[in-house]
Amino acid sequence: MLRDPSSKYQAFPVIDLPDRQWPTRQMTSAPAWCSVDLRDGNQALAVPMNVGQKLEMFDALVKCGFKEIEVGFPSASNTEFQFNRRLIEEGRIPEDVTIQCLVQAREDLIEKTVQSLMGARSVIIHLYNSTSPAQRKYVFGMTKEQIRDVAVKGARLIQERLSRLEEGGTRVTLQYSPESFSATEVEFAKEVAEAVMDVWQPTPGQKMILNLPDTVEVAMPNVYADQIEWICRNIRDRDSLIVSLHTHNDRGTGTAATELGLLAGADRVEGTLFGNGERTGNLDIVQVAMNLYMHGIDPRLNFGRMNDLIGMYERCTGMTVPPRQPYAGELVFTAFSGSHQDAIKKGLAGYDAAAGAWDVPYLTIDPQDIGREYREVIRVNGQSGKGGVAYLLESEFGIELPKEMQREFGPLANDEVDALGREVSAAELREMFQRIYLERTTPWALHHFHADGVDGSFRCRASLRRDGAEVVVTGTGNGPIAAFAEALIREGGVVPFEVASFREQSLSSGSEATALAYVQIRSKSEGRTCWGAGEDTNIELASIKAVLSAVNRLGGGEKA
Ligand code: KIV
Ligand code: ZN
Repeated sequence: MLRDPSSKYQAFPVIDLPDRQWPTRQMTSAPAWCSVDLRDGNQALAVPMNVGQKLEMFDALVKCGFKEIEVGFPSASNTEFQFNRRLIEEGRIPEDVTIQCLVQAREDLIEKTVQSLMGARSVIIHLYNSTSPAQRKYVFGMTKEQIRDVAVKGARLIQERLSRLEEGGTRVTLQYSPESFSATEVEFAKEVAEAVMDVWQPTPGQKMILNLPDTVEVAMPNVYADQIEWICRNIRDRDSLIVSLHTHNDRGTGTAATELGLLAGADRVEGTLFGNGERTGNLDIVQVAMNLYMHGIDPRLNFGRMNDLIGMYERCTGMTVPPRQPYAGELVFTAFSGSHQDAIKKGLAGYDAAAGAWDVPYLTIDPQDIGREYREVIRVNGQSGKGGVAYLLESEFGIELPKEMQREFGPLANDEVDALGREVSAAELREMFQRIYLERTTPWALHHFHADGVDGSFRCRASLRRDGAEVVVTGTGNGPIAAFAEALIREGGVVPFEVASFREQSLSSGSEATALAYVQIRSKSEGRTCWGAGEDTNIELASIKAVLSAVNRLGGGEKA
């Protein structure tokens, strides 16, 4: 890299608009949306979509609620032409959906485009030519006047063919893009656009679309917003225009540019699902729509089945949605950090939908609104705390560890996860719980237990194995657990301990209901505490196993 980049690069000049209005405006409603997945997105794929894939994506876009869909560049390839014909001839375009086609200002291409659209109910013909100084100089070697004339000629060639479409019952909307608009002098972009308007003669009742592409992001998004506001304020017959935005993402600010462009007065947005498109991609429409949604504005697009949409997108384009893609990525509703997990858990438990707006920490929206599940919110790696571990055991397996026990099991599990050096699944945590608590049967294991009693006076007899040898103990107490503890201490030689906490729950797995018992014991001499857990179809046996698990974990508890 250059030590002094200013010798090679320069900031894009700012627009002279001291009384700009957009910074203090707010968004209150959704713009008109146009998906350009099947054209701009498709043209950027290493292997463009075949007709089958384009049809699948078209149907999915319709399902999301897109009313305008740029379906291709039918003069550029036979696949694109055939795709239009199939859409039209097979009646696949719903009544309220308009298809859009891109075309350059060349007679043969315009003719082919018109032929591809014959018989459609409603179409947008999208004419473009590039207008920026670099394109004028390097690509076309044309003066400003010649560039303007290219646009005017294209506009006329389309105009001449309109009656053929209209006589066939097709409603046509016209769209013009000064391609590379954001790198073009605003005065010149206005001049070219007005020259096209002279040909097409839009009116408030029959508007044309003026699409202003940020073909390559060359400036900060506030500059694009200034360009849009400048055009909206200076172009003639603004009320005969639908001003449209079409941003790319070269500086990583395509979404910001679009949002500021909307504040600056635009009416319509072109973009793609998940930002597929040339180079760094087109604007990600999902992001802008969901940003509106999270501000309580109906985006008039529905991404309620986000995972299905991602599946379709990945199948059709061969691209993948990155795990941290806003709203859609696999990890965007996931917290690994213990403090985040704790805050999310508390937020989810405390959030009251009836009382007010969504305010759960770390979650911009309710994942369920886009078909995602809370269970994916919390995942466990070496950075996670006890909260995440407990959450996964509870949400996946219904194991409700007592709070105090979470403090013991959390660090044990975390040490194991840390040693593994990777994320662990809920099933692996369940296996750790099983190994650390439920399967702790040495030195003491239960063979048989029986207790009976009335009015708080119980007597028990337990047959145990200690290192393989059978030991029989008997004891009394105010309940089966107390009687068993007394038996272990008095006849089993276990150091005196008391039961500090006890909890039980039932677990249904399949047809079998089982009980899980959690017992915390405290050694009377050292005051050390330890948890144990037991599982059995019999609730009493579950709690006796839990006592033995705790005694075993305390070291077997034998007197010296
Ligand atoms: O990025 C762009 O400028 C385009 C135009 C053809 C609208 O895709
Ligand atoms: Zn584009």
